[in-house]
Amino acid sequence: MPIELQHVTYDYMPGTPSQVRALDDVCMTIQDGEFLGLIGPTGSGKSTLIQHLNGLLVPTSGRVLVDGLDTRAKGADLRRLRQKVGLVFQYPEDQVFEETVYEDIAFGPKNLGVPAEEIEERVREAMALVGLPDSLMKRSPFELSGGQLRRVALAGVLAMRPEVLVLDEPTAGLDPLGKREILGHIRRLHERGLTVVMVSHNMEEVARLADRLVVLDHGRIVLSGTPREVFAQGELLESIGLDIPDVTKMMRELRKRGWPVRTDVLTLEEAYEEISRYLAGTKAGGVR
Ligand SMILES: Nc1ncnc2c1ncn2[C@@H]1O[C@H](COP(=O)(O)OP(=O)(O)OP(=O)(O)O)[C@@H](O)[C@H]1O
Ligand SMILES: [Mg+2]
Repeated sequence: MPIELQHVTYDYMPGTPSQVRALDDVCMTIQDGEFLGLIGPTGSGKSTLIQHLNGLLVPTSGRVLVDGLDTRAKGADLRRLRQKVGLVFQYPEDQVFEETVYEDIAFGPKNLGVPAEEIEERVREAMALVGLPDSLMKRSPFELSGGQLRRVALAGVLAMRPEVLVLDEPTAGLDPLGKREILGHIRRLHERGLTVVMVSHNMEEVARLADRLVVLDHGRIVLSGTPREVFAQGELLESIGLDIPDVTKMMRELRKRGWPVRTDVLTLEEAYEEISRYLAGTKAGGVR
């Protein structure tokens, strides 16, 4: 179920003095099964873009085609679209509203008309997928920690069994362990066949997970490619206020100082291997 954006432009408050052009002629296609990372400085249009993927926002001009269906077409089945393309908001408080965790996660499938006997099965399955213990089922979502609340929001979307999972900054505000756990769940969901679109400010995170990155600045796509291709453009990224992963920076620095090491390294493991390879070939000997 590919999603195609054709010359998508989006204005908030069009025709008023406060009009803001949040997306400007965006063209891209999201292919089945891919893991797409969306990056860009604050205010660059990331959240606006992803809300177009399930018809929550429709373009001011241009078209979004989900599996060939134009989200702006009269009579477009938006409910079905939102089931297929699950969107987890940037702030989970915007998404979670029922009195108990169970009710909250059950809300989507209930709305879709899923038979009652299947709902509990779906809720349990979704909770397991995001590592929420059953003991939280009857709790109010508003008594949970930030990390647990994010998982509830994610589980609520998964309970609709979407084909595409769209996540807006899923690790914001989590501690390192919470981040690792959530990313592990997302990675496994992708491995199970879900198409994933993830907005992130964390370059290491997207470098590790995404097959392809799209970089937005002022509502326009300024760069796209594999993480290696994108992070090779360190200067362009820095000029729009983004960073490259620390390990990539370190390798560039070593190279400047005369070590003939590769600089297209994205993870600590790769950097370790590359430095070991270099040291093994020098008189200093290898890293033990
Ligand atoms: N509801 C709104 N009304 C008016 N303008 C808005 C609204 N939401 C966003 N904007 C504006 O649209 C532009 C894009 O905002 P958007 O939230 O898509 O950026 P973002 O890349 O998600 O930023 P962040 O990294 O801070 O989440 C910004 O200039 C923002 O101020
Ligand atoms: Mg945002």
